[in-house]
Amino acid sequence: MTRKPIFAANWKMNKGPLETEDFADNFLSKIQQQTFPADIVIAPPFVSLAKAAEKFGNVSAVALAAQNCSEHNSGAYTGEVSAMMLKEFYLHYVILGHSERRAIYGETDEVINAKMLKARESNLRPIFCIGETLEEREGGKLEEVLRRQVTVGMKDLTERDLLDTVIAYEPVWAIGTGVTASAKQAQEAHAFVRSLVAEQFGADSAAKIRIQYGGSVKPANAEELMACPDIDGALIGGAALEPQSFLDIIVNGTK
Ligand code: PGA
Repeated sequence: MTRKPIFAANWKMNKGPLETEDFADNFLSKIQQQTFPADIVIAPPFVSLAKAAEKFGNVSAVALAAQNCSEHNSGAYTGEVSAMMLKEFYLHYVILGHSERRAIYGETDEVINAKMLKARESNLRPIFCIGETLEEREGGKLEEVLRRQVTVGMKDLTERDLLDTVIAYEPVWAIGTGVTASAKQAQEAHAFVRSLVAEQFGADSAAKIRIQYGGSVKPANAEELMACPDIDGALIGGAALEPQSFLDIIVNGTK
C-alpha cells in the first residue's frame, strides 16, 4: 500500500496577515515549477486565512488548513468559528485535538469527536492529533491513552470520512522541546495506532489512512523519521515558520 505523504505546517499563534503574505511570497518563489511526491498543507491562524487563500488559492501544490473549529454550527458561542464558516475560505483541512487544545483549553475526547463530526459535515478533512505525555509514557500508559483518544475521538466516522482523515501522532513531550521521538519509538507508536484503526474500522481503512508524526521535526531528522514504514508525513510547528526550513523538511522527508 503506497500512501502519499502529507507535510503540514502548524503555525499556531504566529503570523498575522502581513507575515503570511511574506511567507507566501518567499515560499512560492522557492517551490515554483517544482512538483513534490507529497501533499503540502499550511495552517495559519484564523485571521490570516483570507490572506493565505488569496496567495495560495490558485496554487495546486499547497492546501490550507484551519487550526481548530467549533463543535457547533452557529449561535451564542463568543470567540468561536464553525466548520461551516471555514468552508467559505479556500480550505481543505482542519487540525483538531492538538495537545495544546487538550491541555490549555481543556478539550476532551468527546468534544474533539463532536468537532470531527462537524468538520466532516462541512467536508473538511480533519488532521486529528493524538499523543501521550511523558508521565503517561513513563507510567506504562502509552497504549491505553492512544486507544482512548482514537476510540472516542474517531467515534461515528464513516469509512468515507476515514479516507479524508489524517491522524497526527504527536508525543506531547516532543512538541516544541527539541526532543524528537526516535525513529523506533515513533514507528512503534504509529504501527500501534494503525492497529487501533484496523480494530475500529477494518484492515482496509487502516492500510489507507495517513499517519503523520509531529514533535520537533526538523530538516535534519525528517529523512530518518519518514523512512519508517508507518510514518506518512509530518505535522510541523517551529521548523515550519521559516519557508526554507519547511521546504527542506519536505525535500528531505521525500528522498
Ligand atoms: P513542533 O510542534 O514541531 O514545534 O514541535 C509540532 C506541533 O505542535 O504540531
